[in-house]
Order: sequence, then structure tokens, then C-alpha cells
Amino acid sequence: MGKPVIPFQALNFVQGSEQRAHSDSIHMTTEPPGYLVATWTALEDCTADCGPLFYYPGTHRLPYIMSGDYDSGNTRFTIGNNSNRRYEDKIENLIREQGFEKNCCLPNVAMCCFGMPTSCMAG
Ligand SMILES: [Fe+2]
Repeated sequence: MGKPVIPFQALNFVQGSEQRAHSDSIHMTTEPPGYLVATWTALEDCTADCGPLFYYPGTHRLPYIMSGDYDSGNTRFTIGNNSNRRYEDKIENLIREQGFEKNCCLPNVAMCCFGMPTSCMAG
């Protein structure tokens, strides 16, 4: 990207988050858009019953979906009721309408997965 990299957040999960497919760009928006790279590192071998990482190849080419692109219920100062669920519904519909196929990742310990700003994934 030709820019210095600044690590700014870490999340640790003991088990899978059970979160639906999403793009991190709605949670961690950069200005200008497109300067987020998310990494996911396995701290132990992952099996299918661990709540493994899943992703939809090709979704990194989707446009940015922000709160103005779906019925978020947000105002300038408040987050609408069920705004995140509505966002995930929007993403689920896009994935279904455009025929993206779900892939599951079962990484071994210390394996890293990278997600681009609009990649749809969860785990
Ligand atoms: Fe995420």
C-alpha cells in the first residue's frame, strides 16, 4: 500500500465468536477507505468443532457497505436498534445474490490469515 503500517487493535477469542459473515471495514473504517488489513492468527490447531474461520473468496471486490447503505436505524448521534443484525442481513443477501461460496479455514497453530477491507469473513 506504500504507507507505514500501524497496528492498533487486538482481539482474543477462547472460542469461535459465532459472528455472522461481515467485513471489518464497517467496524474499523479508515479515511480514505481501503487501508485496513486484518490478520487472524491461530494460537492452537483449529478443528471443525472449534468455530473455525470462514470466508467468501472474491468478496474483497465488493463495494464498501456502510450504515447509509442499509436500513441501519442509525442517526448522526445514535446507533439504531439491531443495526449490526441488519448489517449482517445486508451482507448475507449480497453473498447469496452474487453467488459467493463459503470456504472454511482450519489453520494449524501460528498460521495467519489475512483479510482485505471488504473481505467477508467470520469465525
Ligand atoms: Fe471481523
